[in-house]
Amino acid sequence: MSDSNTRPTIPIQIFENFTDASQFVAQKIVRLIQQKDAAGEKTVLGLATGNTPRTLYRELIKKYQQGEVSFKNVVTFNLDEYYPMQTDNPGSYHYFMKHELFDHIDIKCENCHVPKGDLPWEKIGPYCDWYEEKIKSYGGIDLQILGIGQNGHIGFNEPGSTKESITRLVNLEEQTRLVNSSEFEHIDQVPYQAITMGVQTILDAHEVILLANGEKKAKILAEVMANRMESSVPASFLHHHPRCIFMLDPTAASLL
Ligand code: GLP
Repeated sequence: MSDSNTRPTIPIQIFENFTDASQFVAQKIVRLIQQKDAAGEKTVLGLATGNTPRTLYRELIKKYQQGEVSFKNVVTFNLDEYYPMQTDNPGSYHYFMKHELFDHIDIKCENCHVPKGDLPWEKIGPYCDWYEEKIKSYGGIDLQILGIGQNGHIGFNEPGSTKESITRLVNLEEQTRLVNSSEFEHIDQVPYQAITMGVQTILDAHEVILLANGEKKAKILAEVMANRMESSVPASFLHHHPRCIFMLDPTAASLL
């Protein structure tokens, strides 16, 4: 079969454990920054939140503290933020990034972009367009780091998101609110909406690494690998990306 919907295969690298995977990605990011620095260019990273990248960020902080890397010429764009959401809310992705990474490295504040969750409703559309343009103004994202939701979302591109989607306001599935409620005191505090980069925004990154660990991710990863590229499993659109790889621990890979 060779219709355009038939999936090519995303390469998968399985590590002995998730720390090894995170260390490998941290090393790759450091090398990328060093190469870009040597060429006198900025490094543009696409960053994710959630439990998945925590170890990666710890490793990056370690490498910065050991003098291996500077983030002075690094620009970051985060995938998503809840809406509505204040930046100082401990459940916000602004708060997460500040505490898990930005406060511990020498990155410049003005180079860190996390979608704003505190805008009045009528400003969201123009702001999302601005976010897209801002990414393009830096020549696009060099390396996008992704996690995956148990329902196959990437960023907050929930099932139903199209391949062409760009940065926009989206509704969250109840299952997503429930899973993410652990970051809040009560599920009632989890917003019903979010601003997220689109599937197309993610596919436009020059390189993509999806990290996943634990048995809770095994089923959806098997679906991504078995499915054709379709909206019901947004991560399956990554089959369209020529430089995308999944880096997994053995339990996440157990159903592949
Ligand atoms: C969250 C985020 C995603 C993240 C995913 C997995 O809802 N919006 O960007 O990748 O869900 O989260 P975790 O890494 O905690 O499993």
